[in-house]
Amino acid sequence: MSKILVTGGTGYIGSHTVVELQNAGYEVVIVDNLDNSSIQILDQITQISGKKPEFHQFDLCDETQVIDFISKNQDITGVIHFAAHKAVGESVAKPLKYYRNNFFSLINLLSAFAGKEVNFVFSSSCTVYGQPDVLPVTEAAPVKKAESPYGNTKQIAEEILVETASVSENYHVISLRYFNPVGAHKSALIGELPIGVPQNLVPFITQSAIGKRGAITVFGNDYDTPDGSCVRDYIHVVDLAKAHIAALKRQEEGRMEKNFEIFNVGTGKGSTVLEVIKAFEESTGVKLDYKIGPRRAGDVEKVWGDVSKAEKELNWKAELGLEDMMKSAWAWENYIKDNSFS
Ligand code: NAD
Ligand code: WQD
Repeated sequence: MSKILVTGGTGYIGSHTVVELQNAGYEVVIVDNLDNSSIQILDQITQISGKKPEFHQFDLCDETQVIDFISKNQDITGVIHFAAHKAVGESVAKPLKYYRNNFFSLINLLSAFAGKEVNFVFSSSCTVYGQPDVLPVTEAAPVKKAESPYGNTKQIAEEILVETASVSENYHVISLRYFNPVGAHKSALIGELPIGVPQNLVPFITQSAIGKRGAITVFGNDYDTPDGSCVRDYIHVVDLAKAHIAALKRQEEGRMEKNFEIFNVGTGKGSTVLEVIKAFEESTGVKLDYKIGPRRAGDVEKVWGDVSKAEKELNWKAELGLEDMMKSAWAWENYIKDNSFS
């Protein structure tokens, strides 16, 4: 079976994808510098799949290490590149940290594969659409000026990939634009591990419910949406993980129409913040303490994806709904209450 390099494989989405790759019979090798993840995740993955993935700890910004690693692992046929910094607020405060990490790691990886055939799957984001003019948003929608250096790294990374693929047929690149990944593996052995106060909605909900945080603030209820709170396309992280396997299969089976392609990865359905809160309460039986607060700067009002391209061309479709997302996120929060990660 093919050997796949998963960068950022001990992180949130990476760890779930490693499990799905192993389930699908792939051999996995992880590179992660543990900047935003725990080495203990390797044991958690092993408990789920029964197979310990090969692991290398180093910084992908170190060009010598990347070149050396790839030259010693010539049997790698595919790369899923998750490794990046991802905190929107921090990126505004420390833009160079984001540009350095997210670009150097990408450029080093692409350079290390120069002259070799490689299937490359990139973690992009619906953030590139900003507030779309038409909903649901399709892959053909224009990319809007980024609201943050983080968002800008995703836009420019896609341009780097387009230009790299345009001069060499050896790169088979799929950029997956994720909507809002939430939830955890059904085993509750892996999930999201936010550092400090979570900025994202679902980790804040679960931490508030367990008593780690106070009341949830709903950022605005005066938007032009059914109940006034913002709309997002929440996708279960396991469904998202499976989309990466579907992308690799398309590459491996030679089904790509161009050697750079983009796919939206969401459910195609929008939910408001208040609907997410209600779904959490109904699916877990736990009452949440929440209040309405002011709008958060930079928030888009509503976005959800047209996912018909992924359904048709990747033969992939999200299967899990908000109930599964909330139940699994809650089970994971309870798991980490009794098990510390460092
Ligand atoms: P995460 O922080 O949990 O995982 C990223 C992993 O990459 C971490 O384990 C970190 O230690 C590692 N890493 C970062 N820089 C590295 C480097 N230079 N060298 C080696 N390892 C490095 O993040 P995540 O939520 O799993 O996100 C994965 C990818 O998906 C990121 O590219 C992110 O921008 C993208 N994405 C995430 C979301 C989301 O809401 N979580 C949405 C859209 C896109
Ligand atoms: C979801 C909704 C908030 C917290 C961010 C990044 C984006 C992407 C995913 C990587 C919004 C509301 C939130 C809270 C709230 N990441 N909210 N109270 O903003 O859609 O996207 O993560 O690419 O780039 O910007 O996700 O989870 O922060 O917010 O009311 O305490 O929940 O206003 O409407 P967002 P989020």
